Amino acid sequence: MGFSPDTLRDRVAIVTGASQGIGRAIAVEVAKVGAHVVLCSRRLSALEAVAEAVRAEGCRALAVECDVREAAQVERAVAQSVETFGRIDLLVNNAGYRIRSRLEDLPRHEWDAMVATNLTGVFLFSQAVGRVMIRQRGGKIVNVSSVAGRSGSRGLAAYAATKAGVTVLTQSLGAEWAKHGILVNAVAPGPVETEGVLEVWKTPAMIANAGREVPLGRVGRPEEIAWAVIFVASDQANFMTGETVYVSGGPRVANRED
Ligand SMILES: NC(=O)c1ccc[n+]([C@@H]2O[C@H](COP(=O)([O-])OP(=O)(O)OC[C@H]3O[C@@H](n4cnc5c(N)ncnc54)[C@H](OP(=O)(O)O)[C@@H]3O)[C@@H](O)[C@H]2O)c1
Repeated sequence: MGFSPDTLRDRVAIVTGASQGIGRAIAVEVAKVGAHVVLCSRRLSALEAVAEAVRAEGCRALAVECDVREAAQVERAVAQSVETFGRIDLLVNNAGYRIRSRLEDLPRHEWDAMVATNLTGVFLFSQAVGRVMIRQRGGKIVNVSSVAGRSGSRGLAAYAATKAGVTVLTQSLGAEWAKHGILVNAVAPGPVETEGVLEVWKTPAMIANAGREVPLGRVGRPEEIAWAVIFVASDQANFMTGETVYVSGGPRVANRED
């Protein structure tokens, strides 16, 4: 059984990184349960295609070109959202990326760029939307972090550090903004088959291999992350803030049986 089509009826959601992968799935799945969606990322043409998919679900959509690293662009996107829809009920901070590199080889500018997108972007959007939600006296923020932010990851140390930052930002804001009725949580995926990771897993054999590392024996689908976001964003999760929900196919453990 799926969610009720009224789960997020007429709520206004901003989804960052909505042009592909998990962000696209979140945008379409929240529309299936009634939310109107503002889609943000750097590629407007790709966003327009996702906006059409949202409209096909009977909801309104606004595609906004926005680089989450740029405060002025974030402010503009949030102002445009309020002008168009009058309010913001849900912010999903999903935009993010990773570069696989041994730390000793990672150039400083790649570190800075990953921090700017994965962590500063969450700060900028949360601050701009948080100010709106404080005036509204309520709202929800869901940050898409990663299992790497809990356990670390060989070859992805910088990425894991940014995601750990998101986890603690989530905890802190959950406590800080509870008095404003703003609930802040995170959803932390394990490996999920998206355009982004397919740049790394280039063959079916590599995808199968990634699945073998997961206790449930497969990688996830983007919709499986979106459904956790819907739960956290729904009224059924109104006694929950500052928390992280892991959707990972099972926690990785250090030892192997085989
Ligand atoms: N897939 C996984 O296995 C996995 C596992 C754990 C966590 N995650 C997290 O889930 C989120 C989505 O991952 P994904 O696999 O769906 O990635 P993806 O396929 O690479 O998509 C990334 C999205 O982020 C957007 N983006 C990147 N940089 C941006 C920027 N500076 N400003 C605005 N938008 C930006 C991209 O849009 P544009 O290119 O149009 O800007 C794109 O829509 C990320 O935060 C990732 O860390 C993914």
